Amino acid sequence: MRTISELFNLSGRSALITGGSGHLGSTIGLALAECGAKVGLLDKVDTELVDKKFTNINKENYQKIKMDLSDKQEVSRISEVVKDTLGSLDILVNCAAMVGTDEVKGWVDPVESQSEEVWRDALEINLTVPFVITKHLISVLNESSSPSVINIGSIYGVLGPDWSLYSSGDIKGTPAAYAASKGGLMQLTRWLATSLAPTIRVNAIVPGGVERNTPVRFKKEYEKKTPLKRLAKEEDIKGISVFLASDASSYITGQCIMVDGGWSVW
Ligand SMILES: NC(=O)c1ccc[n+]([C@@H]2O[C@H](COP(=O)([O-])OP(=O)(O)OC[C@H]3O[C@@H](n4cnc5c(N)ncnc54)[C@H](O)[C@@H]3O)[C@@H](O)[C@H]2O)c1
Repeated sequence: MRTISELFNLSGRSALITGGSGHLGSTIGLALAECGAKVGLLDKVDTELVDKKFTNINKENYQKIKMDLSDKQEVSRISEVVKDTLGSLDILVNCAAMVGTDEVKGWVDPVESQSEEVWRDALEINLTVPFVITKHLISVLNESSSPSVINIGSIYGVLGPDWSLYSSGDIKGTPAAYAASKGGLMQLTRWLATSLAPTIRVNAIVPGGVERNTPVRFKKEYEKKTPLKRLAKEEDIKGISVFLASDASSYITGQCIMVDGGWSVW
C-alpha cells in the first residue's frame, strides 16, 4: 500500500489548466505544481497573477499557453499544443469561463436585457469548449497511467440565485446563461465519467463565492447564508484540486464536489 504522501504526489505528471491566468485557474495550477506536476496555463490573456504566484516554482515546471478558446480552429489544435508544450497529459482542468465580473453588454443585466448572442457565447466557452477540449484530449489522456479531468462548476449551476443578496446593487448576480452552462457542466461531468471509465476519471469542483474586493454589505449577507460564516478564499480550492488530480481520489469519478462552506446544505 502506498503512503498518503505518495498518493498525493504529482511528480512526473503534466496538467493543462484552461483559464490558467485567472484567479482560480492560476491557484489550481500552483497547487498542482507545488505537488510536483508540470503545468500548462492556457488563457487568452496574460495576467500578472501567474508571475506573482509562481515565484517558488521552477520555471521549467510551468508554461503559459496563449489561446482564445472562442476560436474553433485554435481549439481543434489543442492536442498538438499539449504535445508541443507539455509532451504528455495526465490532468485536464476545465476552468476558463465567462464569469459574472466580465463586462459584456447583455451579460450581467436584468433578464429582459440579457442578449441571446451573449447567452450563446457563454454556453460556448463555459460548456461546449470543455466538451470539445476533453474530446480532443482523450487519446493523449489515455496514454497516462492515471488520467483525471476536473471541471470547475459553480453553486449557481446547482441552485437558483437569492436575489435579495443583490437587491442593493453593490454587486450583480450572475446571468441565466452562467447558471445554465454550469448546470450543464455538472451533467457533462457525470456523462463523461461513465463514458470514459474505467480509464479516465472525470469530476467537478463546485465552488461558492470567492472573496475578492467584496463589498461589506454583500459579504455580511452572504456569510449569514453560509454555515461556515465566510466567503471562499482562493486557497480553499487548492486541496480539492490536488485530491481530484491525484491517486488519492483514484476510486472517485462522476462526482461534483461542493466547496461552498455549506451554502448548499440547508
Ligand atoms: N470567483 C468565484 O466566486 C467563482 C465561484 C464559483 C465558480 N467559479 C468558477 O471558477 C472559474 C474561474 O473563475 P475566476 O473567478 O478565477 O475568474 P477569472 O476571470 O479570474 O478567470 C477566468 C479565466 O478564464 C479566461 N477565459 C475566459 N474566456 C476565455 C477564452 N475564450 N479563451 C481562453 N481563456 C478564457 C479568462 O481570461 C480568465 O483568465 C470559472 O469557471 C468560474 O465560473 C468562480
